[in-house]
Amino acid sequence: MTQAGSRRAAPMEMADPRDPLGLRSDAPLLDAWLRFTAQAEAGLLNPMAVPGHKQRQELTGAVTGGDVPLYGGLDSIKHADVPLGDAEDRAARLWGADWCRFSVAGSTHGNQALALAVGSPGQEVIVTRCLHRSLLLGLVLAGLRPVWVLPERHLSGLPAGVAVGTVRDALASHPEACAVFLGDPSYVGTTGDLAGHAQAAHEAGVPLIVDAAWAAHLGFHPGLPPHAIAAGADGMVTSAHKALPAYTQGALVLARTGLLDPARLDRAFEATHTTSPAGTIAASIDAARALLARDGTELCARLLRLTAAARQRLAAVPGATVLDGPGVEPTKLVVLLAGTGAYGHAVEADLIAAGMPVEMADRDTIIPILTIADDETAVGRFTEVLVAAIERHRGAPRRPVPSPAWTVTPQMALPPREAFFAPNETVGADAAVGRVSAELVAPYPPGVPVLAPGEIITAEALAALRAAHAEGGRIAYAADPTLATFQVITAGR
Ligand SMILES: Cc1ncc(COP(=O)(O)O)c(C=O)c1O
Repeated sequence: MTQAGSRRAAPMEMADPRDPLGLRSDAPLLDAWLRFTAQAEAGLLNPMAVPGHKQRQELTGAVTGGDVPLYGGLDSIKHADVPLGDAEDRAARLWGADWCRFSVAGSTHGNQALALAVGSPGQEVIVTRCLHRSLLLGLVLAGLRPVWVLPERHLSGLPAGVAVGTVRDALASHPEACAVFLGDPSYVGTTGDLAGHAQAAHEAGVPLIVDAAWAAHLGFHPGLPPHAIAAGADGMVTSAHKALPAYTQGALVLARTGLLDPARLDRAFEATHTTSPAGTIAASIDAARALLARDGTELCARLLRLTAAARQRLAAVPGATVLDGPGVEPTKLVVLLAGTGAYGHAVEADLIAAGMPVEMADRDTIIPILTIADDETAVGRFTEVLVAAIERHRGAPRRPVPSPAWTVTPQMALPPREAFFAPNETVGADAAVGRVSAELVAPYPPGVPVLAPGEIITAEALAALRAAHAEGGRIAYAADPTLATFQVITAGR
């Protein structure tokens, strides 16, 4: 086993072409990964431990290449917590937090860990209803009772941030609530007044937790909004694999302790994390953090430039609108198509055929993700292909219909945890109207539940889900994704 945490890389090692920017000297887990994989490639390892591929490729082939466990790979099982702790401390310092953990299970795990860290079963929590399904399942795990707050609406019909006044009112009428959970920026890049929310939460004596899954780059350039911790939040989760050049599933959970207890945070994090974290994912989070610390300002400046140029080009397409202005994260590109008559799913199909898959497409919207890994060539080519696809599908302008994910007005009959465990039955869709949903149903992306366990299935929700499905959207997590039947809480319960 390597002892990666115990010494810094020598200058010769920094020239490793597998680390083209020389990040390893400030990235203990990346350094360990480079050592281990070099040893494996040189045939110097004969591991009698998991993973079962044994660093050999004769059986399942290249698909396991580069897979190194954290424990017993990046370092010995007994010592790996030391370089891991070192890497997490470096991330905590970078974000101005005093607690940080690297998750190999995405912001999904981070949201659930934070939900488990704030209260006790039965306690109320103030939560945005524009939440990702992972946080809703976090409420189920933790037994917290949501007091929903709804976001403001942007002129486009898309959700904006939650107003501070809305949170203040919720805190005033629910003085026993144990925390405030918001998602910021939203999936469509709209942002709220996090500093105002932090003040409101702190005046009520509770922590502000922010799902910033899309915002790992925020705060690293003066042209970007500050990140949630800098704005005063107590806890924040962010996906390193979304905005940063890290491995899929890599995420950071960050906290400022005081209102949050570090021991409880650790217990909550471990409760829902694998005991076999992928060292490769952890090392990539470490590498992305080292890159951001050293070159973040410059890379974010390029990203801001690229996004501004793409925004300008797309806004010049007759009928197209690009979300912009105050309250919109400047590196997010949300292209609204209704005025061009082109449909999002058709445009998306052309982009996929051109090898340019986007993050999200629905009837009226296309959302590509631009990151610090993009350059002029990539973004320029994408923009031209997108413009051509819009022109190919151009039609009569129409009124936009916002995704049902953005228009949910929940009617909660039971708290999510109670509903999740309640006896349930399957009924036809029309018979389900007026009944209490046992399941979570979300168009994905964006993964905001239109129906949550415990909510009344309304005729409006059913019609909106059916419309999203008919247009070609993916309806996730429903037991019957065709929406012919629904799982509802058993009558007379
Ligand atoms: C707002 C939000 N939170 C959390 C998540 C979950 O992130 P991950 O895929 O890293 O688990 C997502 C995923 O898209 C998201 O949009």
